[in-house]
Amino acid sequence: MPVAGNVVLGQGVTIAHPELVNLYGCTIGEGTSIGPFVEIQKDATVGRLCKISSHSFICSGVTLGDEVFVGHGVMFINDRAPRATVEGRRASDGDWRLETTLVEDGASIGSGAIILCGLTIGRGAMVGAGAVVTGDVAAGAVVAGVAARLVRRGEQSE
Ligand SMILES: CC(C)(COP(=O)(O)OP(=O)(O)OC[C@H]1O[C@@H](n2cnc3c(N)ncnc32)[C@H](O)[C@@H]1OP(=O)(O)O)[C@@H](O)C(=O)NCCC(=O)NCCS
Repeated sequence: MPVAGNVVLGQGVTIAHPELVNLYGCTIGEGTSIGPFVEIQKDATVGRLCKISSHSFICSGVTLGDEVFVGHGVMFINDRAPRATVEGRRASDGDWRLETTLVEDGASIGSGAIILCGLTIGRGAMVGAGAVVTGDVAAGAVVAGVAARLVRRGEQSE
């Protein structure tokens, strides 16, 4: 089912193509829009008035604040050291450690960015297209590159 029955959808959430998304066990705040080919996993939380662009993946353990922009094809990560198998059997839920990620209110994440886990992207920060974010991003900062480095400090971080 593209939007599972256990998704908590706030008022006025827009899902342009409900048949082309995969949402389950997550919470989406009011007024948020979700583009096609987006997957949002269980226990992920998306705040109010966010824009989630097409082809992005928001995994368990991710919390987006309010008014967060997620570009196209943004990948979040929650397992720092993934393994297909453990001692010869296929790895399952108990075999890995989930690390959470927080994106604070008003932050923007450029298209194609990869967000490693266990970090915080501060309020109003901007992540460049194609960045690989490996650590915390200060409030208001602009970061870009692989690995992402500071382009400019924001007013909020000065
Ligand atoms: C990171 C970003 C916000 C910076 O924009 P800006 O403040 O106008 O910065 P500038 O274009 O002046 O670039 C500043 C420096 O960062 C570099 N840079 C800019 N964007 C970059 C990126 N995505 N990755 C790597 N380096 C980048 C520039 O080459 C420049 O380097 P230099 O000083 O060595 O010449 C912007 O380039 C960006 O990537 N925005 C995201 C757009 C996006 O994904 N939108 C999604 C919806 S379509």
